[in-house]
Amino acid sequence: MVVNLLQNGRIGLAPMEGVIDALTRDLLTRHAGFDWTVTEFVRVVDARLPPRVFYKHCPELALPQVATPSGIPVHLQLLGADPAALAANARQALSLGAVSVDLNFGCPAKMVNRHDGGASLLRQPDRVYQAVKAVHEALDGEIPVTAKIRLGFANRRLAVACAQATEAGGAAQLVVHARTRDEGYRPPAHWEWIGKIRRHVSIPVVANGDIWTLEDYWKARTLSGCRDVMLGRSALADPWLAPRIRHWLQTGERLPASSWAMRASVLKEYAARQRQQLPDRVVVSLVKQWLAQMRQGSDEAYENFQRVKRLTELDPLLDSLVAEEAHGTGLAPSPQAHNTHSLA
Ligand SMILES: Cc1cc2nc3c(=O)[nH]c(=O)nc-3n(C[C@H](O)[C@H](O)[C@H](O)COP(=O)(O)O)c2cc1C
Repeated sequence: MVVNLLQNGRIGLAPMEGVIDALTRDLLTRHAGFDWTVTEFVRVVDARLPPRVFYKHCPELALPQVATPSGIPVHLQLLGADPAALAANARQALSLGAVSVDLNFGCPAKMVNRHDGGASLLRQPDRVYQAVKAVHEALDGEIPVTAKIRLGFANRRLAVACAQATEAGGAAQLVVHARTRDEGYRPPAHWEWIGKIRRHVSIPVVANGDIWTLEDYWKARTLSGCRDVMLGRSALADPWLAPRIRHWLQTGERLPASSWAMRASVLKEYAARQRQQLPDRVVVSLVKQWLAQMRQGSDEAYENFQRVKRLTELDPLLDSLVAEEAHGTGLAPSPQAHNTHSLA
């Protein structure tokens, strides 16, 4: 009975600039787990950007479904502060086939915040409202606009006001990363604050931040009261976390944590595919970047990272990722066109 009640929880793959690109989205949605994914942010300043910028961030726009090869929808994220420019770029995204436009009000980067974008808008809920409203009106109900916020900039005083501003502006869904901008990525994530926000808005609220395990997943859902969650760094640390959660929701069975061999096989495929389009030296840093994320919660990943961190050649690096090829995960592949919900 409990399992049935849980079945509906959706899981989003978080946007991660410079880290989760189309290939990563493809690899992470191979096994049924995620319901939707979001692109790295497209930075909007004042002009309407050319189509090539959108295709670069979201190559899936060129596909009929704007989805990963497994059929999981890809939402396009914009980051900016000027309502008119955001609206013009939302229209551009729509004309290129985007299925949903997400607005980033959470980016903590000093550079971005100094230039009036990301989390800096959380100090003025009215500006959040104006940005969402402009995009909502530009999209004219053809596709949804969604928003992603933190709990605030320096403190949580305006958390509820900002959430309400996204709803009033027309957002169809709100993702809340349960930390302020000044808290960066320091644990803990304040899931109970997401619950506070959720009680003050009527749109679906998605809990995000520090969900690393099945236990975290359950705790985040319980404390926030949210049905839906979004996973970022943990999806890279363990590409089987979302499928394991999904499997648990559907069957009540707790699968064991994925082995290092399974994780290493993802890295190896990632490297093989990246080297078809990028020079080896770039692929070396990308593999190290992902391996660094995998250190969280895996002693073997930690040891592998220590061993390869000074290697500069790709083949020796891959050879030294000690791993047998992973066979069978016990998890289902993602069904094609898995979910046709307008937001997922
Ligand atoms: C390297 C990195 C890049 C990120 N890029 C984005 C981004 O482009 N857009 C966005 O809304 N959030 C971005 N985030 C925030 C994540 O989407 C997510 O909210 C945050 O990492 C907390 O979730 P997690 O604990 O599951 O990783 C980024 C985070 C990291 C660590």
